Amino acid sequence: MKIMVVGGGGREHAIIKKIKENKTVSEIFALPGNGDIAADATCVNIGAKDIPAIVAFAVANKIDYAVVAPDDPLVLGCVDALEEKGIPCFGPRANAAVIEGSKVFSKNLMKKYGIPTATYEVFDDMEKALSYLETAPIPTVIKADGLALGKGVIIAMTRDEAKDAVKSMMEDKVFGASGDHVVIEEFLTGPEVSVLAFTDGKTLVPMVSSMDHKRAGDNDTGLNTGGMGTVAPNPYYTEDLAERCMKEIFLPTMNAMNAEGRTFKGCLYFGLMITENGPKVIEYNCRFGDPETQVVLPLLESDLLTVMQAVTNETLAQTQVKFSKKNACCVIMASKGYPTAYEKGFVMTIPETVQDKVFVAGASLKDGKLLTNGGRVLGVTAVSETLETAIDTAYSYVKTISFDNAYYRNDIGQRALAAKKQ
Ligand code: AMP
Ligand code: GLY
Repeated sequence: MKIMVVGGGGREHAIIKKIKENKTVSEIFALPGNGDIAADATCVNIGAKDIPAIVAFAVANKIDYAVVAPDDPLVLGCVDALEEKGIPCFGPRANAAVIEGSKVFSKNLMKKYGIPTATYEVFDDMEKALSYLETAPIPTVIKADGLALGKGVIIAMTRDEAKDAVKSMMEDKVFGASGDHVVIEEFLTGPEVSVLAFTDGKTLVPMVSSMDHKRAGDNDTGLNTGGMGTVAPNPYYTEDLAERCMKEIFLPTMNAMNAEGRTFKGCLYFGLMITENGPKVIEYNCRFGDPETQVVLPLLESDLLTVMQAVTNETLAQTQVKFSKKNACCVIMASKGYPTAYEKGFVMTIPETVQDKVFVAGASLKDGKLLTNGGRVLGVTAVSETLETAIDTAYSYVKTISFDNAYYRNDIGQRALAAKKQ
């Protein structure tokens, strides 16, 4: 089978490595891939948002199955366009990807179907938003409606900060049209849990839970990033909680999307906060999380391509999806300065012995040398019997990898470890 994976980050690298395990796969194309994915797939220089070029490539190369991994092409209708040409895909159509593409849509969906989430108001008029903020409870959370590279959420600790956030989104348009509508919502507290789930619209199978580390600095300090590391499973996500989430959140979401005529097929990501009043949805994503995928897929014992095809064919109920009971830890190595200014183009040295543990996010190939080419450069994943040994092993791998200006957090997994010991 000829497979095409749209995207080119660490998540896509993890997906590609897992798909490669399937013996029927003859070739994998990554659009655009990156310098290191090139060792596992044929990289094609087509951007993940260039839908006409992606479709033309898939048709010309007789692709048997396509996986669309990032949010942008999903929201832009990449799956719809490929399906029109008869190419089976993993990923939701645009009318379902809106669950991530519009926060106003997802909040209204949860309200309509009684799915627990932070209380909220939606504004399309800046003056009304500002006057609401005169009396709104503080801290509060301001969210731009559309996709904003994961940066469209501002936790405002003061009234002034909240007003500045609204102005930056609605007046200065720092997130472009995404700021035409904003959601202002209740500030929730509690541990966060990420749960990815396979769903074909009839059946929903949650994957092993995970914990992201979003802040740039140790002890959760500094700016929000795309994610500096992950562990799986997440110790806060007990069996009781899993049962409750399935009943109160996961299945109601699948059913709500069906009721809206927007059947979701693909990987549905639930960003949850475990509050004193139970689990609540912080966000939905219409895709595999990054860097959650880098700890979740290495624990998948079933064949990924088979599961993905079952989602496409709506036969998930008859398909085994089995996860190992082990633990995984992924440490992201970034360029110093990320998530703001950073330099790139430094030679990376990855020893052969850890090559299969590394999921590269930002790299280019020049004269046969792998160069850093992004803020988040790579993720190193270790799988082990215990969380403690997974963390230690991941860091021992990290120490063997080098590039100038490398930066990583030293405490990935420590909060999870502490929670486990409680
Ligand atoms: P998101 O980009 O939606 O994942 O949001 C980024 C981060 O902001 C989340 O991981 C949470 O830590 C935080 N966040 C989002 N919404 C809320 C909320 N209502 N209350 C508290 N924290 C939130
Ligand atoms: N790690 C969070 C995300 O993929 O959006």
